Amino acid sequence: MNCIESTSTKTSHRKVTAVVVGAGNRGKNYANYAIQFPELFDVVAVAEPRRHAREYFQHNHSIETEKCFDGWETLVLQPRLADCAIVATQDQDHVKPTVKLAKIGYHILLEKPMAVTEEDCRTIYEACQEAGVMLAVCHVLRYHPPARKLKELIDSGLIGEVVNINHTEPVEDSTTLLIPLLECLVTGGSGHQRNGAEALRSIELAQHSTLHETQRSAHEAGSRN
Ligand SMILES: NC(=O)c1ccc[n+]([C@@H]2O[C@H](COP(=O)([O-])OP(=O)(O)OC[C@H]3O[C@@H](n4cnc5c(N)ncnc54)[C@H](O)[C@@H]3O)[C@@H](O)[C@H]2O)c1
Repeated sequence: MNCIESTSTKTSHRKVTAVVVGAGNRGKNYANYAIQFPELFDVVAVAEPRRHAREYFQHNHSIETEKCFDGWETLVLQPRLADCAIVATQDQDHVKPTVKLAKIGYHILLEKPMAVTEEDCRTIYEACQEAGVMLAVCHVLRYHPPARKLKELIDSGLIGEVVNINHTEPVEDSTTLLIPLLECLVTGGSGHQRNGAEALRSIELAQHSTLHETQRSAHEAGSRN
């Protein structure tokens, strides 16, 4: 999908269109990008068996009725309707729609985990390769400023050698997500307590600036509406 075309003098952005498969929590989150940045992204079709979730999408993204489907199974009977498909069904329901959609020619944004077995992961990979479409798996925390800061600090050696990682995922406000994880890390290496405390402080600052940025964006989006 060549959505960004560069020339020697300027960069122009073409709007990317998407179908959303699975209008649950994650599908809705990704689709919100179209509401925040309508000049860049547009949701033009939805496939979702739950009527109220489908209608929510239809209303919020001004989708034509004939492009609202009661599941991926009916969507894939149509020719390609958009540049890409966002597959946000439950874990065990990733492989079948992704393979079909890739064959139709959709570039794929696939929620993690890619699939529940290695065989299914390979099937998805091969289908996308054969169809010549792009496949991106949504490991979104890799792009989250606190997670990037965490990696930067570990790579820099600031907290010493990492001897143990105890990865927990507290289900709460995501702005507090990484501190417990890092606490486990900094207790690992000997003689690095002070550096560990500095590292914690850096992560905390990254989290606060992310929170501030999120609040500012939400405020700006609110003012625009
Ligand atoms: N919620 C999270 O914070 C989170 C975080 C990371 C990854 N994920 C992953 O994202 C995926 C979706 O999670 P979620 O929380 O949005 O789940 P969800 O249950 O809210 O959404 C899944 C949606 O798929 C729909 N669906 C079921 N059968 C379908 C079909 N045949 N065709 C089209 N849609 C169909 C369901 O009705 C539902 O609306 C999962 O793989 C999950 O592991 C979720």
